[in-house]
Amino acid sequence: MNKRLMQQIGFQLLVLLGITIGVQQAAAQTRALTVDASESVAPIQPTMYGIFFEDINFAADGGLYAEMVKNRGFEFVDPMMGWQQPNSDRHSMNLESGFATAIKSKDSPADQTYIQVLVNKPEGYELINEGFRGMGVESGADYLLSFEGAKGEGEVAQVVFTLIDESGKAIGSTTVDLSGTDWKVYEASIKAKATSEKAKLKLTFQGAGIVNLDMVSLFPKDTWMGREKGLRKDLVQLLNDLDPGFLRFPGGCIVEGRTLARRYQWKKTVGPIEDREILVNRWNTEFAHRPTPDYFQSFGLGFFEYFQLAEDMGAAPMPILSCGMACQFNTAELVPMDQLDPYVQDALDLIEFANGDVSTDWGKLRSDMGHPEPFNMKYIGIGNEQWGPEYIKRFKVFEKAIKAKYPEIIIISGSGPFPDGEHFEYGMEQLSELNSEIVDEHYYRPPNWFRENADRYDSYDREGPKIFAGEYAAQSVAIASPDNRNNWNCALSEAAFMTGLERNADVVVMTSYAPLMAHAEGWQWTPDLIWFNNLESYGTANYYVQKLFSNNRGTDLISITEEDGPLTGQSDLYASAVKDANTNELIIKVVNTAKTAQEIDLDFEGAKVAGKAMSYTLRSDDPEAVNSFESPKGISPVEAEISLSKGRLRTAVPAEALVVYKVKIK
Ligand code: AHR
Repeated sequence: MNKRLMQQIGFQLLVLLGITIGVQQAAAQTRALTVDASESVAPIQPTMYGIFFEDINFAADGGLYAEMVKNRGFEFVDPMMGWQQPNSDRHSMNLESGFATAIKSKDSPADQTYIQVLVNKPEGYELINEGFRGMGVESGADYLLSFEGAKGEGEVAQVVFTLIDESGKAIGSTTVDLSGTDWKVYEASIKAKATSEKAKLKLTFQGAGIVNLDMVSLFPKDTWMGREKGLRKDLVQLLNDLDPGFLRFPGGCIVEGRTLARRYQWKKTVGPIEDREILVNRWNTEFAHRPTPDYFQSFGLGFFEYFQLAEDMGAAPMPILSCGMACQFNTAELVPMDQLDPYVQDALDLIEFANGDVSTDWGKLRSDMGHPEPFNMKYIGIGNEQWGPEYIKRFKVFEKAIKAKYPEIIIISGSGPFPDGEHFEYGMEQLSELNSEIVDEHYYRPPNWFRENADRYDSYDREGPKIFAGEYAAQSVAIASPDNRNNWNCALSEAAFMTGLERNADVVVMTSYAPLMAHAEGWQWTPDLIWFNNLESYGTANYYVQKLFSNNRGTDLISITEEDGPLTGQSDLYASAVKDANTNELIIKVVNTAKTAQEIDLDFEGAKVAGKAMSYTLRSDDPEAVNSFESPKGISPVEAEISLSKGRLRTAVPAEALVVYKVKIK
């Protein structure tokens, strides 16, 4: 090697060494942060972190609502959808074994159809329900079987209900004797002898003749709070573990409907289950890339059940109602202003249903359904993602009527589907002029948007409307893309953004990730906070971000600064801090989005702190990493004890991590 070449290599090595040392120095540079516990900047509202529930992705029917029979009442547009008769061929008229015919005769719109089963050869005829992509049954568990039945001509004496696994093997059964030609409700129990994620319910018959059937239903007996025909326990547990401050329901776009006729009408979702009129789910045909033709709303999970769920979780109920505008991404149908009254009346009646005395019409219905005490509803949302002058016009009418009768109810308005742009600007301007109490903002944006917008609310008018960040989620690919993933990069970006929500708790009073849940085989929209199949469920990395914030919401916002300014992503560091007056703790949330660890030196002003603290670290080495059924807690918080020295917390925040530090006040 000649001298000149050696010199060149030597110089390059020196440069490289210099760069490396420089980088190390930068990485090793300690960030001096100050937490000021002497002053409460603002109270943290109990509603700060809540949940947004919508029946999308099989979240209600096929999910939270534990009914296992799909199309139990034969009310789908195709009355036999979800049901098979493997030994009968309708088209060839080969009805030798038997056949079920849908009869449209009952007059109530909610219960028009039943089936008339003609059994010719009892040993050959089978009627099978496929469930919601199967039925999840667990070995040893008991299931409540019920149906409405009436004998017809002939001698059908018994119906045998058998749970079969994917191979068709029987894994549990019960036999029900039929009696009389009048309609009756029959109930029985099935114990499963094996576990299957994709079981089905098979009906066979003893004796030939005719039997009429309706409302064929199967529920696990082990439901949330043991309520008969109630909610799936594991899923509610995941929600409850978030300790949500509010429950927003029933959506989402489902509130609006693709057409006005298909909007969500709460009055049709209360009272006896069999009287609740089924409705096609708007997500059924929304995306050509994820068609779900068998997605309907049974409303077994209706408004009473939503209020009850909110109460169970200690969450404030927050219903959102149609304002007389169908989804503006679909038909955008409008109710004429002079025909808005029934919509407004729905809102007033809902308040009576939730809070009214049992002597009122709607309060009585709540009481008859088993809840004489009021639900103490404080919030109501008018419209979901509406925009433009037509929304403002309608909102004003609702606001006037609600405030005239119920001045204490807080009304939530909406700024449309996007966090910026002309619809947003217009909506915000108008709603600010109206002194709207709380405005709902939505943002489905790329991960970087969330990192870059941690200071979004720093400049909001402190005298203006309060903000409900009602739907947000980082999209790894693009909004509504089926390829979006609940990966660590998205979750970390949301965490960075959430420090900004918390730092602005004087303006931002409610927040919720969306959508909440998705069936692994029945989804339309991704990403989603919780994934489930018929047996199992898990929280995503995003879920654990939400949980860390929500479980550590504190009672008072306090400041955390670096050189007197907030941490909004300078050199990849974000932070917020709260005090919890109930536990006498300071809680600091730090997000490091850098690829290297960052040293912090936390000084506490206005409080003497204990020598030990707890840290909860959520991180992954891989920005693409996700939780899954195989690794449900792959990304989940890791707890550790750390020591303070002379009242200071010196520690390294790992690369690409959210860390929550909890320090006791002495
Ligand atoms: O969360 C999914 C959908 O996104 C909601 O229904 C709607 O409000 C938003 O556009």
